[in-house]
Amino acid sequence: MRTAADLADFAQVIADDETPLARATENTLLARSKSQMRPPMPRPSATRVMVVANQKGGVGKTTSTVNLAAGLAQLGQRVLVVDLDPQGNASTALSVDHFQGTLGTYELLVDDTALNEVVRPCPEIPLLDVVPATIDLAGAEIELVSVVAREGRLKKALLGSGRVGDSSLGEDRWDYVLIDCPPSLGLLTLNALVAGAELLIPIQAEYYALEGLGQLLKTVDMVRAHLNPDLAVSTILITMYDARTRLAAGVADEVRGHFGDQVLRTYIPRSVRVSEAPSYGQTVMTYDPGSPGALSYLEAAREIARKGMEA
Ligand SMILES: Nc1ncnc2c1ncn2[C@@H]1O[C@H](COP(=O)(O)OP(=O)(O)OP(=O)(O)O)[C@@H](O)[C@H]1O
Ligand SMILES: [Mg+2]
Repeated sequence: MRTAADLADFAQVIADDETPLARATENTLLARSKSQMRPPMPRPSATRVMVVANQKGGVGKTTSTVNLAAGLAQLGQRVLVVDLDPQGNASTALSVDHFQGTLGTYELLVDDTALNEVVRPCPEIPLLDVVPATIDLAGAEIELVSVVAREGRLKKALLGSGRVGDSSLGEDRWDYVLIDCPPSLGLLTLNALVAGAELLIPIQAEYYALEGLGQLLKTVDMVRAHLNPDLAVSTILITMYDARTRLAAGVADEVRGHFGDQVLRTYIPRSVRVSEAPSYGQTVMTYDPGSPGALSYLEAAREIARKGMEA
């Protein structure tokens, strides 16, 4: 039988334990207790419309959109996610229905349905709303071609909602609108670039990370010159960062060399918890709030909110 003295000895052994495992356990416990503390941040003076785009597929656009949105909401911000990808992955992760027939982005862009009619609250996360995307949206890319002012549809819908703008709009005003773009530079992404003032580019810490970015930046210049002078690349987020590899560190340095302070200091680690959350209809912020992925997204959200205060 163990005595209290034995247990005290045992606790001392654990406390003295400097093995990596002990340290990892301690870090996780610390992170968990920290994650309970989420003091609200001040709200921006006007809605910040952020376009999450990179025409390269699978770099973490959707994952970053939903987790940053959840993080911002956890920091007391009112957030709208617009799912602009016909795959509807953001809608899935936020647990919002997007079966065919559900009103969503397609109706908003093609049928002139009002934003307030297509918006749904995220059931898991207070302060977070979603415009879901159904597979119908795949047709919008073609159907919009013949529509008047086809690239300004999303902007018109946002402004017409009465919930995007400065604080005169009242309590219901959204502080952030995050737009999850498909991996292409077609009319859907163009609508986002016209509607937003800030572009957030997720970059995967992998070989060829910067490949293809030139095309995106050229599109941004074109949009700025002809359609939306307010547009700027405001935020670069390094995703799927593997701290054990020199390659990831090298890529991150290269990205920082290109974009400087636009790169968030927080890198999102590659983590299984992040990738399994959507299959439970959740973000990692609710699925495993103490995990490194969730804590990183929360810290990145804090950085974004803080940057808005400086501007
Ligand atoms: N930090 C991470 N750790 C582990 N897996 C991740 C992480 N971020 C994203 N993933 C996984 O990588 C894949 C691609 O991510 P995601 O869907 O967010 O990219 P995307 O840029 O939106 O892709 P698409 O271009 O198809 O829209 C997904 O399976 C996702 O779960
Ligand atoms: Mg996506």
